[in-house]
Amino acid sequence: MIRSVIVGSGSYLPERVMTNAELAGMVDTSDEWIVARSGIRQRHIAAEGETTGDLAEAAARDALDHAGLQPDDIDLIVLATATPDSTFPATATVVQSRLGIRHGAAFDVQAVCSGFIYALATADNFLKAGQFRRALVIGAETFSRILDWEDRTTCVLFGDGAGAIVLEAMEGDGTNADRGILTSHLHADGCHHDLLYVDGGPSSTQTVGHLRMSGKEVFRHAVVNLSAVINEALEATGLKAEDIDWVIPHQANKRILDGTARKLKLDPSKVVVTVDRHGNTSAASVPLALTEAVRDGRIQRGQLLLLEAMGGGFTWGSALVRW
Ligand code: ACO
Repeated sequence: MIRSVIVGSGSYLPERVMTNAELAGMVDTSDEWIVARSGIRQRHIAAEGETTGDLAEAAARDALDHAGLQPDDIDLIVLATATPDSTFPATATVVQSRLGIRHGAAFDVQAVCSGFIYALATADNFLKAGQFRRALVIGAETFSRILDWEDRTTCVLFGDGAGAIVLEAMEGDGTNADRGILTSHLHADGCHHDLLYVDGGPSSTQTVGHLRMSGKEVFRHAVVNLSAVINEALEATGLKAEDIDWVIPHQANKRILDGTARKLKLDPSKVVVTVDRHGNTSAASVPLALTEAVRDGRIQRGQLLLLEAMGGGFTWGSALVRW
């Protein structure tokens, strides 16, 4: 059977770092509150004029270099973002043109913080169906552009960044020992729209709008939904929590990471954490964390990775990947 194997990963973070101390000079907050409630110490903020497409292009080039491939080797680009450069065309086509690719398909996926898992599952299914051979799967966001910088309950939590992987269709035996994506699981429940949304859009207000969130409610749903979708992936493969070498979670809040690990009896030292330095970068957070753990040597060939995320919609999902 065909498996989608991750043959390279890359990332990009804007140069400018905004600390909690800087935020405390802008809204009524403190480093102590932000660290205690979220685990976040700093976040990266895109420069004026630097767009999601710029971040995505840099992460894509880094992933291609890591894979030892050329842009022309790619025939599918799936880009997850909730902060596209324009209402249309898709930011994936911006990346495609910057990379000089003139063939294949390119489109965006919109599932907010779960976007990368949605994009990964989408690309995986295209590769398994034999329609494309090599995909760039990108998560890229400039959430700093949709934050209400006067709302202390949200502006302290998010940051900008991008991560990317190259997926390649390869023959596998169809067992859990295969390299590549072993299983993926996606969910949505649109009833919870009002707990996490942006109060603008092209068709409703003709403005971009600002992020609004009922943090406590989102938190409660996150631990329940993530635990369920992780168990679903384990049950689908017959694997156990102790088989997982690394958990690469969406980085929303350190307390959600700890709560989910506790609920599933996962060793906390196996959870890759970047939220302290990146904040919540939405669809970019999973490939950013993955790339960090690949580049620093934690992730080794043959290891089992669990990827998971939950975001606005609500949407949530998981994937088990053999590196
Ligand atoms: N600084 C100081 N005080 C603050 C701040 C701040 N930045 N923000 C809120 N407070 C105050 C509140 O006003 C409240 O005060 P009150 O008790 O006088 O009313 C108090 O702190 C406690 O606020 P809570 O909202 O109850 O704090 P909580 O412990 O729930 O933490 C947080 C808030 C960090 C937002 C948390 O609920 C959370 O992380 N939620 C989940 C977010 C998430 O997972 N998002 C994922 C998806 S994101 C996406 O898809 C785009």
